[in-house]
Amino acid sequence: MRVATILAASCAMLAAPAALAAVGPKPPIDDKVATARWIVANTRWAFIATIAHDRPGSPFNNVISTANITMPSTGHQGVPVFYTSAMDASSKDIAVNNNVSLGLSEAQLGLCGEDGSDDVPDPESPLCARLVLSGRFMNVSSTDRDAAVTQLFTEHPEMKSWPTGHDWLVSYLQLDQIWLIDTFGGASIVPPEVYWAWNPSH
Ligand SMILES: *[C@@H]1O[C@H](CO)[C@@H](O)[C@H](O)[C@H]1NC(C)=O
Ligand SMILES: *[C@@H]1O[C@H](CO)[C@@H](O)[C@H](O)[C@H]1NC(C)=O
Ligand SMILES: *[C@@H]1O[C@H](CO)[C@@H](O)[C@H](O)[C@H]1NC(C)=O
Repeated sequence: MRVATILAASCAMLAAPAALAAVGPKPPIDDKVATARWIVANTRWAFIATIAHDRPGSPFNNVISTANITMPSTGHQGVPVFYTSAMDASSKDIAVNNNVSLGLSEAQLGLCGEDGSDDVPDPESPLCARLVLSGRFMNVSSTDRDAAVTQLFTEHPEMKSWPTGHDWLVSYLQLDQIWLIDTFGGASIVPPEVYWAWNPSH
């Protein structure tokens, strides 16, 4: 069973589209920081939850494309960045309250049970790693803008041809909570300072 799981996982990795460059194998379950950074590095989209501007007190959840950069202004690594239209529903929420939360799953990498197979964990199983990043959705500064746009357009080439006149914003997530489940026993909280400073070569 364990071997089958590993084989299924490696095959899924090999079958991933070329554009989704895998950044190393899944880290061990006791390495929470590495696992959080691994999910962020290997996913190119997320669900973003906001507080709905038109339905007070209710959450709104939407898809958003992502890239991760090292911020030139702070040296923070693994920072999610975004290219969104001010006309989007989530942008209208953010204009009122920029507290957001990003939902990410190992299932996005094809490593969990979206084919109904019981050889790999179900997306809701604690063994299918899930990460919720909360914080403030912020405009990038002029110092960070080039790095963010370059990485976004590299990971999402179609963005380059999106129509002008849609009030495109370049933003980043200023993290205040990193919540991770990758095994049984409840969630782990990774301090942002530890997440930002973690070096992939370690
Ligand atoms: C994205 O994150 C991974 C792992 O944290 C890192 O290796 C990679 O360099 C990051 N990408 C950029 C453009 O900084
Ligand atoms: C955003 O979240 C922070 C931290 O939880 C909280 O202190 C602040 O009041 C929130 N802002 C709004 C506008 O809800
Ligand atoms: C981000 O930039 C847009 C466009 O300049 C502006 O309308 C918006 O208020 C800014 N958001 C924040 C949080 O400063």
